[in-house]
Amino acid sequence: MTNFRQIKMAKSALADLLLTHADLATMEPGGGPYGLIADAAIAIADGRIAWRGPASEVPARWRGLPARDLGGRLVTPALIDCHTHLVFGGERALEFELRLAGAGYEAIARAGGGIVATVMATRATDAEALLADALKRADALIGEGVAVIEIKSGYGLDVDTELKMLRVARRIGQLRPVRVVTSFLGAHAIPPEYGGRADAYLDAVCLPAMQAAHAAGLVDAVDGFCEGIAFSPAQIDKVFAKAKSLGLPVKLHAEQLSNLGAAALAARHGALSADHLEHLDEAGVAALARAGTVATLLPGAFYTLRETRLPPVEALRRHGVAMAVATDCNPGSSPLTSLLLAMNMAATLFGLTPEEALAGTTRNAARALGLGDRGMIAPGMRADLAVWDAGHPRELAYRIGFNPLHQRIFGGAT
Ligand code: NIG
Ligand code: FE
Repeated sequence: MTNFRQIKMAKSALADLLLTHADLATMEPGGGPYGLIADAAIAIADGRIAWRGPASEVPARWRGLPARDLGGRLVTPALIDCHTHLVFGGERALEFELRLAGAGYEAIARAGGGIVATVMATRATDAEALLADALKRADALIGEGVAVIEIKSGYGLDVDTELKMLRVARRIGQLRPVRVVTSFLGAHAIPPEYGGRADAYLDAVCLPAMQAAHAAGLVDAVDGFCEGIAFSPAQIDKVFAKAKSLGLPVKLHAEQLSNLGAAALAARHGALSADHLEHLDEAGVAALARAGTVATLLPGAFYTLRETRLPPVEALRRHGVAMAVATDCNPGSSPLTSLLLAMNMAATLFGLTPEEALAGTTRNAARALGLGDRGMIAPGMRADLAVWDAGHPRELAYRIGFNPLHQRIFGGAT
C-alpha cells in the first residue's frame, strides 16, 4: 500500500476521505450474504479503498480524514456493464414491429435486416453524431451508478468504420467519469459486400482491422459471434488465433440461438467470458468451469427476442461458474440502457437470486473484463462506489423502472 500511495500521490489531487454511517455490501466472496457490514466506514486514500469495516473500528491512521456522513445509506461497489454495443447508428424500431407481427430475429437477419441494417446506418453516421447519441446511453448507465462500460465495435465491418466506432468508444471514457473497456467485434456479421464469403471477409477485412485497431491502441479484448447467421467455430478459431498473436484476451457471443459448441471453444482459448448461453449444455458448462471463464447472462436479449429457452443457471451454479449480468445494449436484440433492469430481469426471468444479480454486475462483471481491482469494496480496490437510497442490497434487483441511486463515487471523486 505504501509504495502504491507514493506512486499515485504525484498524479492524483484527490482529497482523501472517510465515509461514515453506511451499510456496506462489499460483495467479497466468503464474507457472508452480500459481504454485508452494518454501520460501517470506508477510508479512501489516493482514489483507492485504504480500509473498510465497522465504524467503531476505524484505525487511528484514518480517523483524522475529512469525514462524510452517508446517513445510514447502503454502499455497494459501483456497477459494471460488461457487455454493450452502445456505439451505433440509427435504430431498429421497425424490426421490433415486424417481430411483434411474427417475423423471427434470424429471418430478419437473413433478409438483410438485423445487424447488417445497423452496419449501414453506422457507416453513414459521422463520428460526432455517433458520439452524441452514444453519450446519452452512457449517461443513462452512469446515472444508475455504473463506473465501467464495456463497448464493442462490430457495426462497421470495414476497417475505417470499425476504427471509427472504437475511437468514439474511447472518447466516451475521456468525456465522462467512466472507465470504457473496448472489445473488437469485427467477427459480428458478414457484410453484404462479402455475402456468402465469410473467410474472405475475415482475411481481407476483419483480421487487418483488428491489427490496425490494436496498433492504434483502441482494443482491450477481441469478441466474436459464433452462430449459424454469423461465424463458424473454425472461423472464430482463426479470429482468436490472431488475437492471441497480438496478446489480446478473448470473449465470445456463444450458444445464443443454437448450440455450436462455442462456449467450449471460448474456454479452450481461455476466454474471459462466454456470453448469452441460452443453448449451453452440460459439457459446455463444465468447459467454462475448467477454464475459469465467466458466463455472462444477457436477459435483455432473451426478453426482447421473446426467447423461451433459459440459460442453464442451475448447472452453472453446480459447476461453480461465475455469472455476470449485462445490458447487451444494442439497437436490435436488446435496446436496454438500464443495468438495474437487467438485474431485475436476471432474477425474474432467469432465476438468479438478487445477490447473484448484484455479484453479476460487480465482482463477476469485473472478472469478465479482466479488471482485478474493481467490483468489491476491499482494501486496494479502486474507490468506485455507489451510494443508494436503499436499506438492503436485495432492493437493487427488486424494483422495475425506479432508480434509487443517491451518489456515485468514481476513483474516490465525489
Ligand atoms: O449481443 N448476438 C449478436 N450481437 C448482438 C445483437 C446485435 C444486433 O441485433 O444488432 C447481441 O445480441
Ligand atoms: Fe452482444
